[in-house]
Amino acid sequence: MSALPAMSVATADPDGAELVALHPHLSRHAMDGLVMEQVPLQAVADAAGTPCWVLSAGSIRSRLAHVRAALAGAGLDAAVHYAVKANDHLAVLRLMHAGGAGADVVSGGELRRALAAGIPGAAIVFSGVGKTMADLQLALASGVGQINAESAEELDMLAAAAAATGRAARVALRINPDVDAGTHAKITTGRADNKFGIAYADAPALYARAAGLPGLRPIGVALHIGSQILTMAPYRAAYARAADMVRALRAAGHTVDSVDCGGGLGIPYRGEPAPGPEALAGAIRAALGDLNVQVAIEPGRWLVGPAGVLLASVVLTKSTGGRRFMVLDAAMNDLLRPAMYDSWHGIVPLGAVDAVAPTAAVDVVGPVCETSDTFALARALPALAPHARVAILDTGAYGAVMSSTYNARPLAAQVLVDGARWSVIRPRQPVEALWADEQVPDWLAAPR
Ligand code: LLP
Repeated sequence: MSALPAMSVATADPDGAELVALHPHLSRHAMDGLVMEQVPLQAVADAAGTPCWVLSAGSIRSRLAHVRAALAGAGLDAAVHYAVKANDHLAVLRLMHAGGAGADVVSGGELRRALAAGIPGAAIVFSGVGKTMADLQLALASGVGQINAESAEELDMLAAAAAATGRAARVALRINPDVDAGTHAKITTGRADNKFGIAYADAPALYARAAGLPGLRPIGVALHIGSQILTMAPYRAAYARAADMVRALRAAGHTVDSVDCGGGLGIPYRGEPAPGPEALAGAIRAALGDLNVQVAIEPGRWLVGPAGVLLASVVLTKSTGGRRFMVLDAAMNDLLRPAMYDSWHGIVPLGAVDAVAPTAAVDVVGPVCETSDTFALARALPALAPHARVAILDTGAYGAVMSSTYNARPLAAQVLVDGARWSVIRPRQPVEALWADEQVPDWLAAPR
């Protein structure tokens, strides 16, 4: 059989109106321009300045409710543990807690944040490939509901932590199902050569070992195959392997009560087809529904990504080397995703008049001294004058949490919108704060 080249269907990128229509909490008003829930974003930018992250509380609430309804609709009594890494602001964690979610944390710091937001230890799962002894002891002292162990070495550390704290550890083994999630290489986690999890073939012996260690109570298996996953086949393959593992462990005489199905559900940044929570719930039900296990998922991006925008102002536009550049006051230190993963984010003007002007291709960049400080190449946008503003869409997940202060750029302000109300939830960092903790040794300050 001769291999034919794969058909590629050229789909045009969504235009500004289509991008706004993909976000129920955003709308465009003839006078006010872009509006989030009932708050004109120009007013937020006037008051809080740019760059500025803005999150919709209503969107986060309805997305969490959507996920929970999809699980219930598939007949699953499943827990949702929000992946704190996607956006760890205390206000976001409060919204998750109020909506019935627990938390998935990957560091002592995330654990403390989740506890500080009022999420009880019992509703927290601790994942991560390199938990320290201090992390494990904190987890046990905090009554964390589940620790996902990723190696034989970690099981031994956990037994030592249990002995030191006098607390038993409810432990799940994170198995590596050797499934390619078909996503960007930098966010693929479930292939055998990734650093994550326990090799599938080694899991039965390690489960037995965990069962024999004092202070450890093995409760089940966990997996997470990657992030921004837009097809169901990798999930189906991974969950089938998890189900096989549950059956094998039980056949060997072990108790297996829970399966943690991980996160990774992708969102349509570019208007591409995306499966959504119903498809995920259906795949879990099909593979694990008959096993009488407590299932849980760990979504991050799907819950908060589309709920957030990054507001930026145009500094200037220039033409050089045959290309047109629009330079914003936001940069890769604020939103790292395009530089790190070549990711595509919608960019729409805030102003009502700008939004309907004719468009031309322009490279949208930040002012940082790196060529990778590029938000978009040849993007169709209207000609925007200096001080005009744009919103960079779908930045509620892996946005502010991945910011740095590179180029001595203070962390941007953060705002939460809720109906007609809005509040600054983190003021812009004062520039002096960048060096306030730095210490110049006396021997440098002393006269020579
Ligand atoms: N559970 C575990 C164990 C994880 O490692 C992750 C994400 C999640 C859950 C949540 O995955 P989500 O549902 O958000 O896809 N910075 C990258 C994404 C890194 C994801 C790391 N792990 C980005 O901006 O695309």
